Amino acid sequence: MLTERLLNIESAGISNGADLILDNVDLHLHEAEFCYLVGKTGSGKTSFIRTLYAENKLHSGTANILGYDLSSISRKEIPQLRRKLGMIFQSFQLFPEWTVARNLAYVLSVTGWKDKEEIRARIEELLMMVGLTSKINEKVFLLSGGEKQRVAIARALLNEPKIILADEPTGNLDAETSDDILLLLRDVAINNGTSIILATHDQRVIEKFPARTLKFIDGSVVEA
Ligand SMILES: Nc1ncnc2c1ncn2[C@@H]1O[C@H](COP(=O)(O)OP(=O)(O)OP(=O)(O)O)[C@@H](O)[C@H]1O
Ligand SMILES: [Mg+2]
Repeated sequence: MLTERLLNIESAGISNGADLILDNVDLHLHEAEFCYLVGKTGSGKTSFIRTLYAENKLHSGTANILGYDLSSISRKEIPQLRRKLGMIFQSFQLFPEWTVARNLAYVLSVTGWKDKEEIRARIEELLMMVGLTSKINEKVFLLSGGEKQRVAIARALLNEPKIILADEPTGNLDAETSDDILLLLRDVAINNGTSIILATHDQRVIEKFPARTLKFIDGSVVEA
């Protein structure tokens, strides 16, 4: 049986915000699929990911993500799309002075959660999943890099995204912590049916956790 396609990209031109840098990109992604993006620095992986969350404008071609047409998406629809995506970055992008709980509660409150007990329960559920229950009231700046990334993953998962976009999520982490993060994301794909697109330079991770791989090379994207 063919599973649902969450992402359909055909003959897309991808821009870095200024210039066209990738042409004729095709990608179809199914539920629960895990896909690496690899390629030299400057090859366009981040630009591609930014296009998927409608930060960079689609230059040409067609791209549909979770039912949103990126060639005609409106300003109003962009936050709606982003709420359905989980985004994880190398630099975490957490509020360092806030506690773990407040960082997560903030996302829930801006996405429409109102009931304080439901918010608390959801936060506890996610922290249990990423193994950080004991840090719930810790300020983020006191956490290690791996712990911060696990908070960022918990944050990305709060609203049960169908797709996670991760841009070098293990870029600053040691091998063991990177493995933990990959295991966690792989479990999310398997257990929740979430599709994961993960840009990485880490060949070791790819060899240890093999998955579909797209290679960014000379302005093109090819299946490796
Ligand atoms: N806003 C921008 N304006 C102009 N050029 C940009 C902009 N953002 C990125 N670029 C350029 O576009 C190219 C692609 O950058 P991008 O960040 O997508 O590459 P990358 O594959 O993610 O690289 P890395 O592996 O180093 O993260 C680079 O040459 C970069 O300098
Ligand atoms: Mg990049």
